[in-house]
Amino acid sequence: MERVKSCIPGLDELTGGGFPSNHLILVTGTSGTGKTVLGTQFAYYGVKKYKENGVYLSFEEPAEAIKENARGFGWDFAELEKAGKFRFIKYDPYHIEDVFDILESEIRNIKATRVVVDSISALGLHVRDDSELRRMIFNLSLTLRKLNCTSVIISEIVPGTHGLSRYGVEEFVSDGVIVLYYERIETTFARTLHVWKMRGSKHSEKLHPYKIDRSGITIYPEEEAFIKER
Ligand SMILES: Nc1ncnc2c1ncn2[C@@H]1O[C@H](COP(=O)(O)OP(=O)(O)OP(=O)(O)O)[C@@H](O)[C@H]1O
Ligand SMILES: [Mg+2]
Repeated sequence: MERVKSCIPGLDELTGGGFPSNHLILVTGTSGTGKTVLGTQFAYYGVKKYKENGVYLSFEEPAEAIKENARGFGWDFAELEKAGKFRFIKYDPYHIEDVFDILESEIRNIKATRVVVDSISALGLHVRDDSELRRMIFNLSLTLRKLNCTSVIISEIVPGTHGLSRYGVEEFVSDGVIVLYYERIETTFARTLHVWKMRGSKHSEKLHPYKIDRSGITIYPEEEAFIKER
């Protein structure tokens, strides 16, 4: 199976060498766990190290805010945009159904093979009807597969619930699921990551610690983490 490097140090060791190419990987977790950092890191180094162009669709933070935060890690998306290797998608919230056509044409324009959608949960703020939203998520997955993109789709875990995603469909249209946790252990909070599923891959079944610092996310594949019973 052909694989795409995640560009997150330590992660490929957990998934059998990277994300299977053309797969949809759901990255989910509660607020502040680093989902956006993971998505931007995957996209930025995809272009920088592997010449794989990327498109970022944000329903949450404005593109400018994402770029500004990325600069803090030393990731200059403006430079990639100027070179025609990267696009942030602008959409009209009053015509939200058009956004996936825009996504498709931008992917084709710059021949992108990496896509980040951040987040499906925020898309739900624009689309009130649940069955319509599920249909959009399903169609999005078909489009990304058709265009041969390897995609990171971000969703959200609602604290105190047991589901993997906000709408409960995201994990079923995805080929892989990565869960990020931020949980209290005595007097401190620990960041841990679990590869919930990765189709076609022998993946780690353990919880691994990770950190976020000035160079982004780093996972410790050799270490196991303990968090309290959920
Ligand atoms: N330069 C940095 N150094 C260390 N930690 C950082 C740095 N930048 C961000 N972080 C950590 O990352 C967290 C934010 O990560 P991120 O925005 O990716 O979370 P998220 O899961 O996307 O959250 P949300 O669900 O609110 O969108 C911050 O709360 C902080 O703990
Ligand atoms: Mg975010």
